[in-house]
Amino acid sequence: DWTAASIVDDQIAKIREQVGDERVICGLSGGVDSSVAAALVQRAVGDQLTCVFVDHGLLRAGEAEQVQKDFVDATGVDLVVVDAEKQFLDALAGVSDPEQKRKIIGREFIRCFEQAARDIVAGTAGAKNDPSDAEQHPVKHLVQGTLYPDVVESGGGSGTANIKSHHNVGGLPDDLQFTLVEPLRDLFKDEVRQVGLELGVPESIVWRQPFPGPGLGIRIIGEVTKERLETLRVADAIAREELTAAGLDRDIWQCPVVLLADVRSVGVQGDGRTYGHPIVLRPVTSEDAMTADWSRVPYDVLSKISTRITNEVREVNRVVLDVTSKPPGTIEWE
Ligand code: XMP
Repeated sequence: DWTAASIVDDQIAKIREQVGDERVICGLSGGVDSSVAAALVQRAVGDQLTCVFVDHGLLRAGEAEQVQKDFVDATGVDLVVVDAEKQFLDALAGVSDPEQKRKIIGREFIRCFEQAARDIVAGTAGAKNDPSDAEQHPVKHLVQGTLYPDVVESGGGSGTANIKSHHNVGGLPDDLQFTLVEPLRDLFKDEVRQVGLELGVPESIVWRQPFPGPGLGIRIIGEVTKERLETLRVADAIAREELTAAGLDRDIWQCPVVLLADVRSVGVQGDGRTYGHPIVLRPVTSEDAMTADWSRVPYDVLSKISTRITNEVREVNRVVLDVTSKPPGTIEWE
């Protein structure tokens, strides 16, 4: 029967068997899933693990700093940060189709991991690596924090349709050069949180709300550009700040903030007419993200978010609330 401790023991044995004395990298986003996966692998094979944080330019405000502060400082894990903003934005230029965006993002993630693996072998990345040793023990494995629902919704479960390609499942290239280590593949989010607590992962990470790997790239409806990302980043930070200030973080599963970049509406701001973009707030409650309900956030909190976003973000003149459950709507808009 299921206990967090038994899962930890089982998975550590499996990881050791799969990895042997070879090197491993882990794509770390700072979210619950990748952090718990990294902590498990660290427990299993210690310094053979290097974590790779890809800054793809689709991150929310403050995200890179948070990974360092909350996870790396607490675990002492070896971390490589890859600055890949230009690479991702170039690859996404001109693309509006959601599945195409997801596939591109999945592919570019892998490219970054491949480059990081080469750098680790060459001794130019990864503080804890002795290059001569790395030659003998190349990076063969990639750890991902894939969960059971990611697999099911990407069409990997039996008899299920592809709802959307999670960046780390359906978005993987065919010529992948790593073997995947996915110790959370059979688990739901609440189980992953229990495993994280068992491993001593800081609570600030264990209780973080989910955030998708493709980041703000799938929260801009339309083409992803640097300017649009900046607009969305500010609006998202305001929404998060106010929801946290209202004490709602643990009541809400997550609250995607979405920029309808291809939609404009007329508004009046300051002393004139504007023709700006809407922001959608999508606060949901859920147990496992397979189903969800829209969250009844108090009107005064919504009002504050709306006022602040339209005052502080020049490009936005309208804030709307998504009142759709899942199904029929998915949690993210793409
Ligand atoms: P949907 O939109 O399918 O989302 O209802 C369910 C949960 O999964 C997250 N999500 C992702 N997470 N990579 C991820 O790591 C992805 O490609 C991805 N797509 C959606 C979403 O935020 C929600 O928690």
